[in-house]
Amino acid sequence: MKVIGISGSPRRGGNTDILLEEALRGAASRGAETEKIVLNELKVSPCQEEEYENVNDEGLSVVDDDMRTVFRKVREADALILASPVFFGSLSAQTKIMIDRFQCVWLAKNILKRDVFAGRRAGGFICVEATSREDFFDNARSIVRHFFATINVEYKKEVFCPGVAKKAAVLDHPNVLERAYELGRGIAGEAR
Ligand SMILES: Cc1cc2nc3c(=O)[nH]c(=O)nc-3n(C[C@H](O)[C@H](O)[C@H](O)COP(=O)(O)O)c2cc1C
Repeated sequence: MKVIGISGSPRRGGNTDILLEEALRGAASRGAETEKIVLNELKVSPCQEEEYENVNDEGLSVVDDDMRTVFRKVREADALILASPVFFGSLSAQTKIMIDRFQCVWLAKNILKRDVFAGRRAGGFICVEATSREDFFDNARSIVRHFFATINVEYKKEVFCPGVAKKAAVLDHPNVLERAYELGRGIAGEAR
């Protein structure tokens, strides 16, 4: 069983990163093989809408950058845990840029009727913010649900942590750390 964690935070050792690590520890406790992808450290260009003219033989983006690795790893995974901070009321740019690049998969599925990400994967979402705005989490969740549906990931679990601004402030919230760990355990238990 393979569980991929994707972090959309630019801050290594920050709140998103810490919670994602906890979730992956939880998944590993169920025997899952885990891997973390840090989007900020990849070369991923924003969607140029080239998919409308052309997709490669696999039905994926023709753009040759680190998204090729992300596509492959997500496709091979049994479960996906996505983690992002709230930036300006929604997902971070790193996260949104990656999601937009999955437009080739949306097109393949809905226009070409080719399910590039066939199968069923379990999914979890972790999100942190400095304030306590539920509508910001709602915005983020709405985008993630749409993304997950496109790549056949079932939105199973979420952990949201408001009120964390400083780097690693989430360490002062042991119950949230525990919930992230349980999210990972639960996701691994539900994986295909
Ligand atoms: C560019 C930027 C925009 C932000 N926008 C919001 C926001 O709209 N609402 C909020 O509650 N926090 C906002 N924050 C605060 C972060 O969500 C918060 O500091 C979070 O803990 C950062 O997570 P990280 O440590 O994983 O990077 C913003 C931070 C940055 C850098």
